[in-house]
Amino acid sequence: MAEKPVLLIVDDDKNTRDGLQRALQRNYEVHAAESAEAALSLLGKVPEIDVILSDLRMPGTDGLSLLRRVQAQHPRTLCILLTAYGSVESAVEAMKQGAYDFLTKPINLDHLDMLISRAVKSRDLEQRVESLEIQLNERYGLEHITGESEAMTQLFDIVRQAAPTQASVLIQGPSGTGKELVAKAIHRLSTRSKGPFVAVHCAALSASLLESELFGHEKGAFTGAENQRKGRFEMADGGTLFLDEISEIDPSIQVKLLRVLEERNFERVGGQQPINVDIRVIAATNRDLREYVAQGKFREDLFFRLNVVDIPLPPLRERDGDVPLLITRFLKEFAEKNGKNVEGITPEAVAVLQAYEWPGNVRELRNTIEKMVVLCRGDKLTVRDVPPNIREACDAPTLPGRSVSLTGGSLADTEERKIRAVLEKNKGNKTKAARELGISRRTLHRKLREYSLRDAEKQEGAINHETI
Ligand SMILES: Nc1ncnc2c1ncn2[C@@H]1O[C@H](COP(=O)(O)OP(=O)(O)OP(=O)(O)O)[C@@H](O)[C@H]1O
Ligand SMILES: [Mg+2]
Repeated sequence: MAEKPVLLIVDDDKNTRDGLQRALQRNYEVHAAESAEAALSLLGKVPEIDVILSDLRMPGTDGLSLLRRVQAQHPRTLCILLTAYGSVESAVEAMKQGAYDFLTKPINLDHLDMLISRAVKSRDLEQRVESLEIQLNERYGLEHITGESEAMTQLFDIVRQAAPTQASVLIQGPSGTGKELVAKAIHRLSTRSKGPFVAVHCAALSASLLESELFGHEKGAFTGAENQRKGRFEMADGGTLFLDEISEIDPSIQVKLLRVLEERNFERVGGQQPINVDIRVIAATNRDLREYVAQGKFREDLFFRLNVVDIPLPPLRERDGDVPLLITRFLKEFAEKNGKNVEGITPEAVAVLQAYEWPGNVRELRNTIEKMVVLCRGDKLTVRDVPPNIREACDAPTLPGRSVSLTGGSLADTEERKIRAVLEKNKGNKTKAARELGISRRTLHRKLREYSLRDAEKQEGAINHETI
């Protein structure tokens, strides 16, 4: 431990104060106060006190009242109360009110030392758990799934509605669309968020391995089963079990899975004893599971059990307007992570990335931005930083040094085609079209003006040609 834990001794008896202070100052930074009032005023000045050792019976404010005030004003500070022999009842009362522990006088110093170090450790653990929980919520809460497209707005609504229920959820979408991220968000937003989130990647294991992975096994259940082992169902008790790539599980395991979902109990491999679990199942697949059912590869009854809430995740190219948002987010993330001073991206580079199809979806975009940030030499990402395969796929100019003009070349054509298509889809409504495209109405107007100018120029050219 870097610094000594800080203690505060509160006792009206000077001998006790001095005695404790002498005994404890080797391992702790020790403060002392002769009354609860003095202790509270000291806490105002030294807020980082870890543990208070307070006498229970003191003139003026007693130890119990001090405990209540400390809990209200300094919830991180733990209290250990010291009582005279025979007043155990009030000590029990103190425990009920949230004291960490109590000791009867005369005090056994070894016992006290052990109690304090245990208190400090448990407080540190509490703080670590708290900060990890905050980090997890930040990483996996809904607000950290980026997207403002219509598809994603709908998705957020379904997730918010479904998360607090106990319903099974089936997330379907192509690879890299964020299925695992959504599964974690549902867990975080559910009543089970304090319980475990356990993921099983079903495609990675053979049928028999998957069976013992899911259900566990008893000692000697099969060759190599030297010890009893808990399965993922047991590990997820009280929390959420995430079954990824569910389409790939063997029919024999599909039957077992159906039984657990229906009866909420199962036996370990090689075991007789039924084990009850309280879990919520979220499954994910990048296949069309209905099609698997039609082909007889997936049990229909299991499909219906899993598919109580159906969450489709669209491919990235169908999320109009989300690419620039994701770029901004990933750019910031990787610039910070790599200590790079990359502050933005040119509109031309954004346009190239927007025109690309993203077969690997958000994962591919995320990896691309990471690569671009890491290799970038300037303080802004430009078309030159876009990996060649993406530039080529979009027909963007590949000549180094040449800047892309949005009013000339095929990139502009791609953009124009897209804008015109969205406009048509929205029956000419520019406000709706601009929203769907993720640009302002002003920008849309400007672009349309540019296109009509270009059309006019083209026509002019044609007429001139004819007259020559
Ligand atoms: N909307 C989003 N906002 C921010 N990051 C996202 C979003 N969607 C996906 N990601 C990120 O993209 C990567 C891929 O997401 P994830 O692993 O959830 O995809 P998946 O659908 O489970 O893919 P696969 O089918 O290949 O397992 C992760 O790094 C994830 O954090
Ligand atoms: Mg996944």
